[in-house]
Amino acid sequence: MNSSPFSSSPSCPKMINPMMFFLVLLILCCLSTASGDVNAKFIPKRLVLPITKHPSNQLHTTIIHQRTPLIPVKLFVHLGGPYPWVHCDNYVSSSYKPVPCGSPTCEASWSGACTTECYSPPSPGCHNNSCSNFADDPVTISATMGEMAEDAVALLSTNGRNPGRVVSFPSLAFTCGGPSLQDGAVGSAGFGRSNVSIPVQLASAFRFPAKFAICLSSSTASSGVVFFGKGPYVLLPNVDVSKSLIHTPLVLNPVSTASAYFGEPPSTDYFINVTSIEINGKAVKINARLLNIVGGYGGTKISTARPYTVLETSIFKAVVGAFIKEANLTRVSSVSPFGACFSTRNVPSTRVGPAVPVIDLVLHEKSTYWRIFGANSMVQVKKGVMCLGFVNGGSEPRTSIVIGGHQLEDNLLQFDLVKFRLGFSSSLLFKQTTCGNFNFTSTA
Ligand SMILES: *[C@@H]1O[C@H](CO)[C@@H](O)[C@H](O)[C@H]1NC(C)=O
Ligand SMILES: *[C@@H]1O[C@H](CO)[C@@H](O)[C@H](O)[C@H]1NC(C)=O
Ligand SMILES: *[C@@H]1O[C@H](CO)[C@@H](O)[C@H](O)[C@H]1NC(C)=O
Ligand SMILES: *[C@@H]1O[C@H](CO)[C@@H](O)[C@H](O)[C@H]1NC(C)=O
Ligand SMILES: *[C@@H]1O[C@H](CO)[C@@H](O)[C@H](O)[C@H]1NC(C)=O
Repeated sequence: MNSSPFSSSPSCPKMINPMMFFLVLLILCCLSTASGDVNAKFIPKRLVLPITKHPSNQLHTTIIHQRTPLIPVKLFVHLGGPYPWVHCDNYVSSSYKPVPCGSPTCEASWSGACTTECYSPPSPGCHNNSCSNFADDPVTISATMGEMAEDAVALLSTNGRNPGRVVSFPSLAFTCGGPSLQDGAVGSAGFGRSNVSIPVQLASAFRFPAKFAICLSSSTASSGVVFFGKGPYVLLPNVDVSKSLIHTPLVLNPVSTASAYFGEPPSTDYFINVTSIEINGKAVKINARLLNIVGGYGGTKISTARPYTVLETSIFKAVVGAFIKEANLTRVSSVSPFGACFSTRNVPSTRVGPAVPVIDLVLHEKSTYWRIFGANSMVQVKKGVMCLGFVNGGSEPRTSIVIGGHQLEDNLLQFDLVKFRLGFSSSLLFKQTTCGNFNFTSTA
């Protein structure tokens, strides 16, 4: 590594967990040993990134290798983000290029502003005639403006089972700037429903289908994974999850759900058509109007910005009430932010978590539902106490149901932006695997 031109990179020592450290070494070392042929005509069929869960806030981050020379850049995973954004201070790169006003990339990002003149010497974030856009943090619901730019990134290709060769892409578009973040993240990886999200940019750069699959680990000790491109998506011990997905259409919300935007863009969040909720097969009485999207309000989206599913007040009360009635468990005092907590005594464990009533999100047809088992519905808050892992979203939230991280973990979700549909695996624990089981040992 000492001979590597990249190993002296100043950000290298700030590594988090051993797996991440290993992957960083892998990328930096492979690029240095193979730097002559990195740009040779190897066309990857799919790419892979690790995803790490943070114990402090239960949210997930990834690491992208960006700039020239390459450095690891830690980004918050924002499933519904329109494009990536990266803090611009201390940004050093010889391959940084501002995105001009009026360019196709600028238009595709729904930018509504142009920096015609910047009155400092040119530097990342300060160029004349550069496209300006928002950097939106959905966790704190805050946004700042920044210059759109493009820069080089290096990613791992994969055959679906192991990482393979490192490939580079010279011009990933992002917004330079953004609000401050937790956990040492310096930006946001936008995977949303937009023409400039990371999956769409990678798909057009490498000409693979605009599909990606995200699998969030429930454990802070083992990395989850995102695959860009079609299956196979293989998890140890040899489970190809792409073979057993259930499908439902993605619903377009015609009104933006971001905290700041220009013009009248559609939402870049992924909405699905939840038509009812059943607990142990019995329908929960909820106001069906809340499940439709009207004027941008209501409906159901999937979000990595919330650690637990957030339900509009009346839905929350109905679901908690119905669950308590079905569960026949010993209640104990509630632990914030949850509504109902129970003793774990005498609750048997199963492969898919504590044996509690199943919660079904019934989708576009009665026979298609997203079934939530104990591992995804219950949260162990302390020894002997578990809570129903849903939180009260208040009486007039923008979106009625926001399916959050705890309910997504150890479920693989494939977003197909060709057919605009979601493929979901349901709990991988049934298949005796988890999202932490991708084999990150390279075979390159
Ligand atoms: C922008 O253009 C003005 C004059 O047209 C020039 O003085 C200034 O240095 C330029 N700024 C940058 C960042 O290139
Ligand atoms: C993305 O591009 C397609 C094809 O050019 C266009 O029809 C669509 O409206 C664009 N989507 C967004 C969100 O701008
Ligand atoms: C509820 O649990 C108690 C004690 O575990 C049991 O005796 C009772 O039969 C259960 N009732 C139902 C409706 O399952
Ligand atoms: C949701 O599904 C129901 C039942 O199939 C259908 O009537 C409705 O049009 C769907 N809504 C959307 C937004 O696709
Ligand atoms: C992970 O992949 C490597 C490379 O193919 C292989 O040698 C190793 O046995 C795999 N690990 C497991 C646990 O199967």
